[in-house]
Amino acid sequence: MSKDQLIMGIETSCDETAVAIIKNGREIVANVVASQIESHKRFGGVVPEIASRHHVEQITIVLEEAIRQAGITFKDLDAISVTEGPGLVGALLIGVNAAKAIAFAHNIPLVGVHHIAGHIYANRLVTELRFPLLALVVSGGHTELVYMKEHGDFVVIGETRDDAAGEAYDKVARTLNLPYPGGPHIDRLAHEGEPIIDLPRAWLEEGSYDFSFSGLKSAVINAVHNAEQRGEVIVPENLAASFQQSVVDVLVTKAVKAAKEYEVKQVLLAGGVAANKGLRTALTAAFQPLSDIELVIPPLSLCTDNAAMIAAVGSILYEKGKRSDLSLNANPGLDITI
Ligand code: KG4
Ligand code: ZN
Repeated sequence: MSKDQLIMGIETSCDETAVAIIKNGREIVANVVASQIESHKRFGGVVPEIASRHHVEQITIVLEEAIRQAGITFKDLDAISVTEGPGLVGALLIGVNAAKAIAFAHNIPLVGVHHIAGHIYANRLVTELRFPLLALVVSGGHTELVYMKEHGDFVVIGETRDDAAGEAYDKVARTLNLPYPGGPHIDRLAHEGEPIIDLPRAWLEEGSYDFSFSGLKSAVINAVHNAEQRGEVIVPENLAASFQQSVVDVLVTKAVKAAKEYEVKQVLLAGGVAANKGLRTALTAAFQPLSDIELVIPPLSLCTDNAAMIAAVGSILYEKGKRSDLSLNANPGLDITI
């Protein structure tokens, strides 16, 4: 009988210090996330220096907790995977250096991974991936349609030309004086309002799978300012509902079109905005009639940043023979396609 494969994942690209351990690529045996959201809230966004400091303070505690939860020692690990990019350089460096220290001290193989590949592979903790597939990646920093014909092979067929979906959510939330991160608050308000405010949808050129959210974001901000100048009050619930409908409409329409054109077997939803209830409901409804395409939506805990997803992609890359050496460095602009 072959031994179980145990892979550790380390994630520190933004404001979560996370360590997880997974068994045989798909089973979570430890999953620890220390969120710093409370520390960044009063600044209305992530402050890079504060993020780095918190990662330094938390990383050893989170690592020890993950090892304790799994009931193993470092020696039992087959490999350590760590997010090498993209993200905040000072934040990434903490995870990368922790991973290198453990790999060196215990002579364990090291595998650097792409953060967005991690978000996509969060879905492999839900179900086995079937190729070809399409991933709709919607996070705070990225909005992309990624085509995969096999494990570890990522082709970006569409991406945002300006703001990411999550970024637009957070900026609109700030205009409505909602706390950071604003996505969940807009989502909640949207369900209490009606989409009666006419807002634009950027479809871009015929056939393009790219996205653009800055025009929509500006339209929302203008609507609020114009109302203020006229001494009127916009009902925040209605504005949230209208904004959410514009975003979801474009994401769902383009995902369905791409899934049909590329004849994929699965569509995976990935990234922090995948936690959005409106998006989850609309995607489920749109793919329901397409019985030969399986839609996979991860549970909320695997949508926002975590390290189980980093271990999930690390497991596949480790099996494919990818190894990083001790010169591994943080790469804030890392490309998913190489
Ligand atoms: O993937 P993620 O945790 O971090 C990045 O890699 O960027 O995504 C964070 C983003 C934030 O912009 C946050 O507002 C958004 O995900 N988000 C949501 C929801 N939950 C989190 N956006 C809309 N609706 C939600 N329910
Ligand atoms: Zn993320």
